[in-house]
Amino acid sequence: MSSKIRIGLIGYGYWGPNYVRALSELPGCSVTVICDSQPERLERAASRFPQIPVCEDAREVLERTDVDAVVISTPASTHYKLARLALESGRHAIVEKPLALEVEHCEELGALADAKGRVLMVAHTFLYNPGIQKLRQCVKSSAFGQVYYLHSTRTNLGPIRHDVNAIWDLAPHDISIFNYLLEEQPLWASAIGSRALGNSREDVGFVTLGYANDVIGNIHVSWADPNKVREVVVVGSRQRVVFDDLNDLERVRIFEKGVSLSETDAGTFGEFKLLVRDGDIISPKIEFSEPLKNQATDFIQAISENRKPVSDTLTGTHVVRTLKAIDASMREHGKAVEVAKCKVASRSS
Ligand SMILES: NC(=O)c1ccc[n+]([C@@H]2O[C@H](COP(=O)([O-])OP(=O)(O)OC[C@H]3O[C@@H](n4cnc5c(N)ncnc54)[C@H](O)[C@@H]3O)[C@@H](O)[C@H]2O)c1
Repeated sequence: MSSKIRIGLIGYGYWGPNYVRALSELPGCSVTVICDSQPERLERAASRFPQIPVCEDAREVLERTDVDAVVISTPASTHYKLARLALESGRHAIVEKPLALEVEHCEELGALADAKGRVLMVAHTFLYNPGIQKLRQCVKSSAFGQVYYLHSTRTNLGPIRHDVNAIWDLAPHDISIFNYLLEEQPLWASAIGSRALGNSREDVGFVTLGYANDVIGNIHVSWADPNKVREVVVVGSRQRVVFDDLNDLERVRIFEKGVSLSETDAGTFGEFKLLVRDGDIISPKIEFSEPLKNQATDFIQAISENRKPVSDTLTGTHVVRTLKAIDASMREHGKAVEVAKCKVASRSS
């Protein structure tokens, strides 16, 4: 194997070009082939990256001798099959989110990667976002106090997918962020979706996730909202922290305000007293670096160190299991569904 990891990119649509650019700028890897089943996409690739060969069939990528790893940046419904082919051919792989549409497919891919001794990363890019890493640092610090709840909003006009609904498209980001911040998975999910645009799949979703200790995580996603928002809020007993991915200047803000129970008064008055704390709003300095490059760097290092990446198959499987519980809840008009039981559920919409 050459000292650089040689990568084949499969899927040169909206997101694929970002991978080719980011990977080409990293010292530890090179892109040796670009594949897309649509010839016009390949024409675009050839004009932007004329030095990189292109091909239409993913199997051609896997037949090449100059490919150590692949990035699968195709629609969600193709991830499982392409990832399986890549692993079977002995390649390492980054698979875009969601890892697959079935929990058992995620588990199968994880087992296959382990059996082949290959690194399989799921592209939960926000785990590599310095703003989200800062948020986790805040939530874990004693100054934050106890986590009360989390709330995230991910709205925009599309882009509308044709194989999954807005929840499967957008909420993997929020579920992976919540799990990363809390270092656990949700116990139950309750969700309502609507087809505001008259599509065959839900384009708007309101999801509630229940974590241990009565911590609630709420996610709103929409393809039908002209106001683009990318925000995660965590409210605790002593602080509120906000991640705003669209605010380059103040990506994270800490509100040193909160309301909590005063334990000292409990015995005296026979009931708890609520104490409001007021304080500053702080924008911590964050050394920003591109999440996609940070993610790729972890992938390259995981290969050379023979370890699992931060965003590993288990991370991706937890997200898909939660999406399955969300599907089941939507079918029951919002009834709470236990996440752990969503191992083998029917296909997503
Ligand atoms: N991490 C992020 O922030 C982020 C952002 C956008 C998209 N994504 C993910 O990236 C993936 C791709 O999204 P997109 O917006 O680029 O979609 P897209 O539809 O714009 O592009 C997908 C491309 O894959 C090609 N393709 C489909 N099946 C193929 C196959 N079998 N072989 C070769 N090419 C094939 C299509 O022709 C298309 O050009 C999705 O899983 C999406 O969820 C992630």
